[in-house]
Amino acid sequence: MHQQFPADFLFGVATSSFQIEGAVHEHGRGESIWDRFCRQPGAIADASNGDIACDHVHRLESDLDLIASLGVNCYRFSIAWPRVQALGQGAFSSEGMDFYKRLVDGLLQRGIKPVATLYHWDLPQALQDQGGWANRETVHRFVDYARHVQKQLGDRLHMISTHNEPWCAATLGHDIGIHAPGIKNRAIAAQVSHHLMLSHGLALQAMRADGATANLGIVLNMGPSVPASPMPEDIAAARRADALSRRWYSDPLLRGLYPQEIIEELGADAPKIEAGDMAAIQTPMDHMGINYYTRHVVRASGELWSARAHGLPVSEMEWEIYPEGLTDILCLMKADYPHLPPVFITENGGAFPDAAIADGHVQDLDRKRYLQEHIAALAVARERGVRIDGYMVWSLMDNFEWGYGYAKRFGIVHVDYDTQQRTPKASALWYRDFLSQWRGLKPLSGQA
Ligand code: FCB
Repeated sequence: MHQQFPADFLFGVATSSFQIEGAVHEHGRGESIWDRFCRQPGAIADASNGDIACDHVHRLESDLDLIASLGVNCYRFSIAWPRVQALGQGAFSSEGMDFYKRLVDGLLQRGIKPVATLYHWDLPQALQDQGGWANRETVHRFVDYARHVQKQLGDRLHMISTHNEPWCAATLGHDIGIHAPGIKNRAIAAQVSHHLMLSHGLALQAMRADGATANLGIVLNMGPSVPASPMPEDIAAARRADALSRRWYSDPLLRGLYPQEIIEELGADAPKIEAGDMAAIQTPMDHMGINYYTRHVVRASGELWSARAHGLPVSEMEWEIYPEGLTDILCLMKADYPHLPPVFITENGGAFPDAAIADGHVQDLDRKRYLQEHIAALAVARERGVRIDGYMVWSLMDNFEWGYGYAKRFGIVHVDYDTQQRTPKASALWYRDFLSQWRGLKPLSGQA
């Protein structure tokens, strides 16, 4: 399988700011919508928050060494907007930016390409107090923030993705209400999704006008939506699910329009779109990040289809383990969009109930198999002619898994939250050896 990936392929690990950083009161960091949401009773399964998380801010140097020990050539992280601009408008914090400069410089010194996401869901609460993403003004605040980051760091960033998974931010945050800011309103969610997309397009234009040299794009989550049966109503339901979750984002980006059937379904709840918005959203991108975890089996009844009940393998999230879905979704994207930019798998991984550390080892063989099978599925998509230039494991280390708190562990490195001790799991050692073989080197001996 190694020979399927060219020498300049990016292999990395991924994290996001709120899930690992902690230090929520340092650098003059302002409150984010996730700080606020965590304090809402019942919002987080284990009633936890991001105050300490993986204490990454205080452990930057040793975490950089940890990343380097894996032999990856890129690292995907996100910048916490409220750490570099407490209120989301007005003064920027040079202290906050200094933290990311140290991170980026530390990566470059170790020969690792920095891949930054501007928005992985931690909106400054002060902007939420003015309506958040439902308020069109937030689009312009985001563009200012993007320009600032690009000017400060852009020359040293390999890639800049504007948004991570706008579907999650819009739908989970504003329709279903299980993510910050916890709103349950379909019309607001639709407007939020449009503003996220618009802010992406305008930020790309502004960063380019400022002379950006980094590779610019966005990250979408997706998986194939397949009907639970050959019945016409299940087929129609799968098509609708695909339009709602995938095409609602990829069509405007790559075709300049929202799926008409969803606009009709939304009726009065459809987003307000101003002249020029769709052209801005369609601004050409240098990359399309895709986060893949599972496929979605859809029934017209709306009842949830359970892979476990069908005897199929699932992760601890109850998500079906379906590596072929990665090949399928990549081939579908290529078939759907003649102008698909080079793709990077910006997240892929699994939560599993890891056995305890024994003699310094965590034998997460299920996660190791998950990664092996998905990298193999990626190789198949490449053979089928999809241009894929990188793959990043979610996640470098166990971290704050949003509404699930710390209970779900996605890391290839184990984190003991009492001591903050990091222990590479079997999956990390496998990934390290895989990468070492890929580079044509002998596996490194000893510790990870
Ligand atoms: C994705 C998120 C990421 C992480 C994984 C498991 O939706 O982008 O932060 O929570 O799921």
